[in-house]
Amino acid sequence: MRIGIDFGTSFSLPAALINGSPATLLHSGQYGLPSVFYYDKGQGGLIGIPAEDQGDRHPENVVRNIKMEISNPDKKTFKLDGKTFDKKKIVGHIFREIKQVALEGIEYQQLVSQKIDGAVVSVPAAFTLRELNFIRDAAQKEAKLKVLGFIREPVAAAIAYFNAPAGEDEKTILVYDLGGGTCDVAIVRSDKNSAEWYKVIDSEMLRLGGRDWDKLLGELIKRKCREQDADISFNARAENKILKAAIKAKHQLSRLERYESYVEVGGEDYDFEITRAEFEKITSELLQETMQMVDRLKQKCSTRIDYIVCVGGSSNMPQVRKAFEKNYPDIEIRIFEPEKAIAFGAAIYAEHLTEESFLHDICKFSYGARYIQDFGRYRDYNRLRIFNIIYKGDALPTSGESISYKLSDDQTSTYIAVYESECADEVYLPEDGTYIGEIEIYGLDDSRKGDETLLTMTIDRSGLMQLKAIDKRTGKSANVDIQLKDY
Ligand SMILES: Nc1ncnc2c1ncn2[C@@H]1O[C@H](COP(=O)(O)OP(=O)(O)OP(=O)(O)O)[C@@H](O)[C@H]1O
Ligand SMILES: [Mg+2]
Repeated sequence: MRIGIDFGTSFSLPAALINGSPATLLHSGQYGLPSVFYYDKGQGGLIGIPAEDQGDRHPENVVRNIKMEISNPDKKTFKLDGKTFDKKKIVGHIFREIKQVALEGIEYQQLVSQKIDGAVVSVPAAFTLRELNFIRDAAQKEAKLKVLGFIREPVAAAIAYFNAPAGEDEKTILVYDLGGGTCDVAIVRSDKNSAEWYKVIDSEMLRLGGRDWDKLLGELIKRKCREQDADISFNARAENKILKAAIKAKHQLSRLERYESYVEVGGEDYDFEITRAEFEKITSELLQETMQMVDRLKQKCSTRIDYIVCVGGSSNMPQVRKAFEKNYPDIEIRIFEPEKAIAFGAAIYAEHLTEESFLHDICKFSYGARYIQDFGRYRDYNRLRIFNIIYKGDALPTSGESISYKLSDDQTSTYIAVYESECADEVYLPEDGTYIGEIEIYGLDDSRKGDETLLTMTIDRSGLMQLKAIDKRTGKSANVDIQLKDY
């Protein structure tokens, strides 16, 4: 059985096709796995709800929102109760638990004979090559879960939408996915009569989600406490209580116009009241930022949009629908399975991975090379600039070629620095891209000085890089590796 995994900033969810229809792989009563890790010496590592519970008692031992920390260069490890954890290990622990939850779900669905062959994992619209590789490594090495491929979250949601019983064909939708950590949008067309069943016109992402709404609401609750007691101070435990109170208030304000509660800090109870209008006012800039992204994408694509489809837990906030109704009064808005759509789409895609006509996404970045060894007369020329090999916006899979020259008969390998960028130019300066790692070409020992090595770089349907090198004179192919730089 192939499964789909929505590895979320706040919640993770496995799903699979059962009798042809997507279903979540959960035990009865469960509704997703909080992507939370906790450790202390007495209890060891905990994940999900037990981690949340213990984290309330010892907030210094809990790691939340790890997905958003993958690309944070200032956060390589976490120290919990005296033990240091590499962030890849933590992501791996979460994947192991997702796999466990899926296995329990399979058992619950009475599909005991099934085992998990691998997973398609959904990722935000503009996660980088290094983030994708990081997640794959964490799942495969730490959790022994084979990653069959990746799919962009709003694209997965679109596939789930089009596959739902009410889903129509020959339509173009704009998916708006406001989750816990990112806001992703994609414009996707479904046309089963064409060679491109699901075609991604374009997608975009902001690193902004429900947790940013939580922070602002938490600040408001703190201000309301301060109004009652100017000397109140908030330690880690109190901060955690404020955050929990904010999340609860936010959820209630999706149903209620006004919410009253209290928070206990330092042995004192502080009552507070928040109206939905107040909440919407303090978070309006966040929402606006996401709406500007929608506008940009819509303008850039200039395609007729049949529906706007909202997914992601944060799309439950009435402010989302209100903003769309105001900005696009002519387009129908549909809220579709906010919590499940992405996992469903990943599960559906897992079953169609090898069908070429199924999904056509586009490359999210350009990839270029810079020769970093001493290449004689080429050296200065190449040192300064990056030569693009693959271009952002190209249909996936996409390939490009680059040629390097042997400098001496005994040169055993060639190194190329790889850059990721948004650049559409053939040549650009290093500061306009991000150095992401090195390619090493080795195994062409019998080639001679001046021989040309042809490097073919491919970005596959998942957004992952594949490399091939060939000596043009001898025709011999070589081993190629990309060593990605850690964040
Ligand atoms: N009824 C609700 N009202 C407001 N917010 C909600 C509601 N239900 C869930 N949320 C918020 O939705 C977010 C989680 O949504 P979701 O599960 O789609 O995100 P995620 O997949 O974990 O994150 P991401 O996709 O950004 O990595 C949380 O911030 C949560 O507080
Ligand atoms: Mg999500």
